[in-house]
Amino acid sequence: MDLHGKSVVVTGGNSGIGAAIVRSLAAAGAAVVIDYVSRPEDAADLVKDIVAAGGRAIGVEADVTTTAGIDKLIGTAVDEFGRLDAFVNNAGVEMRHSLLDVDEETFAKVMAVNLTSAVFGTQRAAKRFIQQGTGGVVVNVSSVHEDWPMPGNLSYCVSKGGMRMLTRTAGVELGPQGVRVVSVAPGAVDTPINAATMKDDALRQKLENSIPLRTVAEPSEIGDVVAFVISDAAKYMTATTVFVDGGIMHGSVGL
Ligand code: BGC
Repeated sequence: MDLHGKSVVVTGGNSGIGAAIVRSLAAAGAAVVIDYVSRPEDAADLVKDIVAAGGRAIGVEADVTTTAGIDKLIGTAVDEFGRLDAFVNNAGVEMRHSLLDVDEETFAKVMAVNLTSAVFGTQRAAKRFIQQGTGGVVVNVSSVHEDWPMPGNLSYCVSKGGMRMLTRTAGVELGPQGVRVVSVAPGAVDTPINAATMKDDALRQKLENSIPLRTVAEPSEIGDVVAFVISDAAKYMTATTVFVDGGIMHGSVGL
């Protein structure tokens, strides 16, 4: 994968899948803006590793639930690296509850972080690509639950289902302007979002038994697919979702 000369923003880039995406992109030669809202030391560690390996990266504190936060990230990419080639809407939270239990505040929080941020991240990045006249790529980090109902995980499923149509609608709208929009949909990945399951042997075993490939993903296995989607090797891919789930969607129930 060759991403030399490309400048990319990754939201929620300092932890979990986001950090793995940052590492994969930098390893392929991209200059990366690493967004974070907490744990600045994790972003600083990533920057240190990438710079030590001869790459380029910068950490930026920005709340992507506001357009001001998103604009700050894009502005940094342009100021530091001269341009923007891709924007990865990765920031996300998961707060599990059933439809019967969910309250307005919790629902609004999940929608703001997972979906509203992605809508305006896509909008702002697309405006920049069009202004540059270069085209560009938006990657939406979705989930198998964009399409696969999970009882007890209502807000998360609704947000990822919305992201599914964001990718398709924006991809169709922006295709004529050379802007691609693609979702990458992981299944179960060994990240902080799944920490409770991973720590409990019985739960972890149950989860792994429901995955045809019989193991949860390493974050790097998602990061590498995002690097591929951004690269020119995927230049005919838009308005669609790449599932990277070990087959879990066709296994039994989500865990
Ligand atoms: C969720 C995980 C879950 C996996 C498979 C992911 O989107 O974040 O908590 O284990 O889907 O159900």
